[in-house]
Amino acid sequence: MCNKISVSSNPFLDQRPGTSGLRKKVRIFQQAHYLENFVQAVFDALGGVSGETLVLGGDGRYYNETAIQVILKMAAANGIKKTWVGQNGILSTPAASHLIRKHQAIGGFILSASHNPGGPDGDFGVKFNMANGGPAPEKITEAVFLKSQQISSYKTTVWNDCSFSNCADFMLDEMSVEVIDAVSDYSDLMSSLFDFNAIRSLFSDGFSMVFDAMHAVTGPYATEILENILGAAKGTVINGQPLADFGGGHPDPNLTYASDLVNILFSENAPDFGAASDGDGDRNMILGRRFFVTPSDSLAILAANADVVPGYKGKIKGIARSMPTSMAADRVAERKAIKCFETPTGWKFFGNLMDAGQVTLCGEESFGTGSDHVREKDGLWAVLFWLNILAVRKESVESIVRKHWAEYGRNVYSRHDYEEVDNAIANKIMENIRVKCTSLPGKQLAGRLVAACDDFSYTDPVDGTFSSGHGLRIIFDDGSRIIFRLSGTGTKGATVRIYLELFEPDVARHALDAQELLQTMITAANQLSEIPQLTGRNAPTVIT
Ligand code: G1P
Ligand code: ZN
Repeated sequence: MCNKISVSSNPFLDQRPGTSGLRKKVRIFQQAHYLENFVQAVFDALGGVSGETLVLGGDGRYYNETAIQVILKMAAANGIKKTWVGQNGILSTPAASHLIRKHQAIGGFILSASHNPGGPDGDFGVKFNMANGGPAPEKITEAVFLKSQQISSYKTTVWNDCSFSNCADFMLDEMSVEVIDAVSDYSDLMSSLFDFNAIRSLFSDGFSMVFDAMHAVTGPYATEILENILGAAKGTVINGQPLADFGGGHPDPNLTYASDLVNILFSENAPDFGAASDGDGDRNMILGRRFFVTPSDSLAILAANADVVPGYKGKIKGIARSMPTSMAADRVAERKAIKCFETPTGWKFFGNLMDAGQVTLCGEESFGTGSDHVREKDGLWAVLFWLNILAVRKESVESIVRKHWAEYGRNVYSRHDYEEVDNAIANKIMENIRVKCTSLPGKQLAGRLVAACDDFSYTDPVDGTFSSGHGLRIIFDDGSRIIFRLSGTGTKGATVRIYLELFEPDVARHALDAQELLQTMITAANQLSEIPQLTGRNAPTVIT
């Protein structure tokens, strides 16, 4: 009996993947044929997938399960011979990346809208990762978009929905499906990188931490690794149960949306260490007792202390950071005489550098840190890296950061986001800056001399691919920067991001608040962009 069928369909015009896959409102994905068209476009852009193997899983948000069933049936109809799927259809993004690599799959679909809210009125997303475990590069996402514009039918299988709630394997028509417990694979990988014994001793000596899983995908991973394997006190992991709507929260680990954790860490009897992860487990926020570590500083500090971590001792070949990420990591790279790369925003630009063995550690200011152990950023990995450092150095988080600043100087940094701005107004804001850009070099702004002003573009050093339009940069002669960029992950209106950075070598001024130190640059950014006048707002939606 032949269960494979072809279903006629018409293109949707809005299926161009953004910074991280195709991200839309759930209701858009619920339109008939919408998800199917995109999945078929991916298979077609890969030149067919017959006889190949696939990894499939998502962050468990609303629509995850429906989408898993759709993709499984389409994978079988497109000739995939085997699919590894996470139990209950759930895999964290770094765990999916690991499984693709481990099983040498052709790639994998990761169903997530990362840190965006979930639920029927929330967001959903589909991202395809390649055989190296990393997000498809731009040349593939563009090919997918082109295919999506030409599509006239997709392949699927007539089949009852499958059950993957236990770890039993089954056949879906001619495709074998293996249901995997991704937590054990992932914890094995972590134990191969970090000194679990040292971290165990840290906890048994009374070190206290709180990990906020934000009702997102990392709950089971964090509970298993931190509490069961490493012996952190029961209850260390809070909001540990993954929920389809993240408990109504916004699963973005930053000072605004992870306020529960921030309140705990800034309270009178705060624990020694706090951390949080996002919807799909690739982001992290690091907090000490009454102390916030910026993601840019975190990357620099991991790099500076890598030699205390078994998996990285003497192994840091290079560091890469996205352009808007502070240049703190560059200082460490310079001191260690290793290469430092500046890439456009989005993890997909790190893949080639890691594959070519040029880069070991990568990071973004947007609470993303990772290494070449996978090809995604990895929230829990960053937390374990910090724990390993804390276990060896036996100092507080604050002391480690302050000593780092004293040694390297402080790259004072902040990002101001204006969310849900009308698209036309956002474009006008960018246009204002673009127009003024040409005449700025040589002039004074915010008490500094503007050295250069451009729209960031990138030529991949490995394969020569050129990519442009990644953010307007104003670079001052002392290395300070103001950067303006439109988000590529939002689903409602536009998000204008302003990245502010200045270098402060004077230890006496390190105790000051970042917003205070950056005040003149903030004022200059507002004047230049005319954001207050154009949006009618006098403060950003989120400051990190
Ligand atoms: C945001 C972050 C970016 C990150 C991406 C996916 O993209 O800024 O660094 O890689 O989410 O997590 P944006 O919305 O700025 O395009
Ligand atoms: Zn994420």
